[in-house]
Amino acid sequence: MKLIAVIGSGTMGNGIAHTFAQFGYQVNLVDINNEALERALGTISKNLDRQVAKGAISETDKTNTLKNINSFTDTKAGVEAADLVVEAATENLELKLKIFKDLDTFAKPGAILASNTSSISITKIASVTNRGDKVIGMHFMNPVPVMKLVEVIRGYATSDETTALVMELSGKLAKEPVEVNDYPGFVANRILMPMINEAIYTLYENVAGVAEIDTVMKLGMAHPMGPLQLADFIGLDVCLAILKVLHDGFGNPKYAPCPLLVNMVIAGNKGIKSGEGFYNYANGPKDAKVAAKFAK
Ligand code: CAA
Repeated sequence: MKLIAVIGSGTMGNGIAHTFAQFGYQVNLVDINNEALERALGTISKNLDRQVAKGAISETDKTNTLKNINSFTDTKAGVEAADLVVEAATENLELKLKIFKDLDTFAKPGAILASNTSSISITKIASVTNRGDKVIGMHFMNPVPVMKLVEVIRGYATSDETTALVMELSGKLAKEPVEVNDYPGFVANRILMPMINEAIYTLYENVAGVAEIDTVMKLGMAHPMGPLQLADFIGLDVCLAILKVLHDGFGNPKYAPCPLLVNMVIAGNKGIKSGEGFYNYANGPKDAKVAAKFAK
């Protein structure tokens, strides 16, 4: 594996491109939007600066990492020579199915097609390709350069060979890969999202306020962020979409999204990316304040 194509240059896509490039892989970063690509390269450069400032990498490592990344607005040109394609586009089933049909047409026959989906069925994604044995989930966590986990998801048709290659490759990125099977939410979000949803219900039922709920989980359970802050960080629209996948996939009412979450997403309060969720980010994520709506 030498050349990796990454589809989508948002938060996850740029983190995935950053990580592969940092570990010496050539990366083709693909996005239909040229401005998004420019923004992504700026973000990668800023995040590399953080690593240089901490002494985790050198200035030369930063320069080499940036040199390893080429950007493309044309999917065919970006993926045709790749050994592995990692799709990190918006979490939308129809969009992912369309992308995978294209990837199956454009990528060379031996290439592995991975999705960074946080909850969409790998088996369903694979079903629109003619290479189900080479389709797999590679679920990175945000922020990708920092988080050690790659959840490697085997679809119904994913081969042992593909799984072994992706497990080995994840290890080469200094990550800890964990192999899981393809059922709604896989492992990470099957456990994380009900916790976040329960935190939102706890707020909705006025058991405690935003800061109180997050403090209990931060100080009581040693979580780096409270569940409401984490929901803002992930994106409330993403949390809602994943909960719907769990609810539909298992048909169990325990996964029903809290009505407060539904209302916040409809109102456009999606967390950090929209400037407000449970917290207000007018002064940036570091100085977040409990949103006026929830302030006591
Ligand atoms: N790139 C490179 N380095 C980064 C970075 C980035 N994007 N973001 C943070 N860092 C580094 C910092 O430089 C710092 O490095 P050192 O440890 O060497 O000092 C370290 O990460 C910690 O950063 P900060 O000091 O700025 O802030 P912090 O201590 O509050 O940590 C955090 C930030 C790592 C995000 C931490 O709050 C955390 O672990 N939060 C929980 C993250 C989490 O749960 N992620 C999973 C979300 S779920 C998901 O992604 C998948 C899904 O399907 C929904």
